[in-house]
Amino acid sequence: MSKKILITGGAGFIGSHVVRLFVNKYPEYQIINLDKLTYAGNLANLKDIEDKPNYRFIRADISDLDEMRRIIRENQVTGIIHLAAESHVDRSIRDPFIFARTNVMGTLALLQAAREYWESLSEGYEGKLFYHISTDEVYGALELTDPQGVESPFTTVASSELHHLAFGREFFLEETRYNPHSPYSASKASSDHFVRAYHDTYGMPTIVTNCSNNYGPYQFPEKLIPLFINNIRHGKPLPVYGKGENVRDWLYVEDHARAIDTIFHNGKVADTYNIGGFNEWKNIDLIKVIIKTVDRLLGRPEGSSESLITYVTDRPGHDMRYAIDSRKLQRELGWEPSLQFEEGIEKTVRWYLDNQDWMDNVTSGDYLKYYDSMYADR
Ligand code: NAD
Ligand code: DAU
Repeated sequence: MSKKILITGGAGFIGSHVVRLFVNKYPEYQIINLDKLTYAGNLANLKDIEDKPNYRFIRADISDLDEMRRIIRENQVTGIIHLAAESHVDRSIRDPFIFARTNVMGTLALLQAAREYWESLSEGYEGKLFYHISTDEVYGALELTDPQGVESPFTTVASSELHHLAFGREFFLEETRYNPHSPYSASKASSDHFVRAYHDTYGMPTIVTNCSNNYGPYQFPEKLIPLFINNIRHGKPLPVYGKGENVRDWLYVEDHARAIDTIFHNGKVADTYNIGGFNEWKNIDLIKVIIKTVDRLLGRPEGSSESLITYVTDRPGHDMRYAIDSRKLQRELGWEPSLQFEEGIEKTVRWYLDNQDWMDNVTSGDYLKYYDSMYADR
């Protein structure tokens, strides 16, 4: 039987890359992109594949249980790749409730609707999969360390024996205990627990993956990299939180999409995989690379935009360091990142500079007005 895959959040940043990969690579599958089209969802991200015969878009809210029941049943869905979420930490600090509604209640509604439909079939769960996309942020924060070991404010986490030491540094492992700090990561942690509970309680075939920071085309410009590229272009201040010393582990978004493809097809049911590129950058160092690249591509003296750097009040509860150990995925399923960071960041900066229309459209919010009128009667 041909696969009918429901991808939630497919109009967002990572989701649009996953939808594109699946639609192009698997013409025999039916790909249904289910998205509410919040401020972060934009169908312009999928212009190049929207007319493909194996692609369909449905506007819906994952927290609407009856809608999820109807959509899953009517489309005879055999697999779900669940990316829909509220995804921005700063927004979660301002309004935690929408994060609980979408990330927790929405995931639960999707799980329940899939469970009811799959359990009603004669073959039951055979050939089905609920694949939940999560984040490294659920593990909390690692200390800012060098191999010699520097004092850190995160002593409780740092002293945990569950944290793995590799290359003289600590990394998040699949076994690392959950310790979320922001309302965003707390909501993602909660949704991960519900997914695992549906496996353990009802036998639903599930997989959870936890990925590090993604970068690349189509990321909403509230996130560090696209926001800073756009601000540098327009000579606007670059708001660096705190001292800019926090560390993130960056992965090119298409490499994440490739990992999702590999895991969806070959991953072990009920298992967890960490996804990351062993590519840690202190924010301020990353920002200087972005500045140099934008300046060079715009024909300005390299580094001249460093004067735009503006240190601002830190994000409350700002996690110091994330670093993923993805060697299980490399060892068991043979995935590894395809792009070197230098190549990925150059591609990314070029893409944003070449697609100013896309940027203007999302910063003006015009696309939201367009969808609201287009879907007003549904
Ligand atoms: P995004 O904010 O760019 O996109 C989220 C998408 O979900 C949007 O299209 C939005 O319209 C949709 N959505 C939101 N609420 C919805 C609802 N109630 N019903 C239906 N659709 C809804 O997010 P992203 O950065 O692409 O992240 C996608 C997933 O990957 C999220 O689950 C996130 O937690 C996870 N993740 C992100 C990163 C990262 O670096 N961006 C890293 C690891 C994991
Ligand atoms: O680790 C995976 C997570 O990465 C995902 O789960 C989240 O959905 C995604 O948003 C991202 O979270 P971060 O908080 O790490 O990403 P953000 O781009 O918001 O910030 C990256 C770092 O840059 C972080 O240390 C905060 C800092 N920052 C961010 C912004 C927006 C600044 O210094 N200034 C800024 O204006």
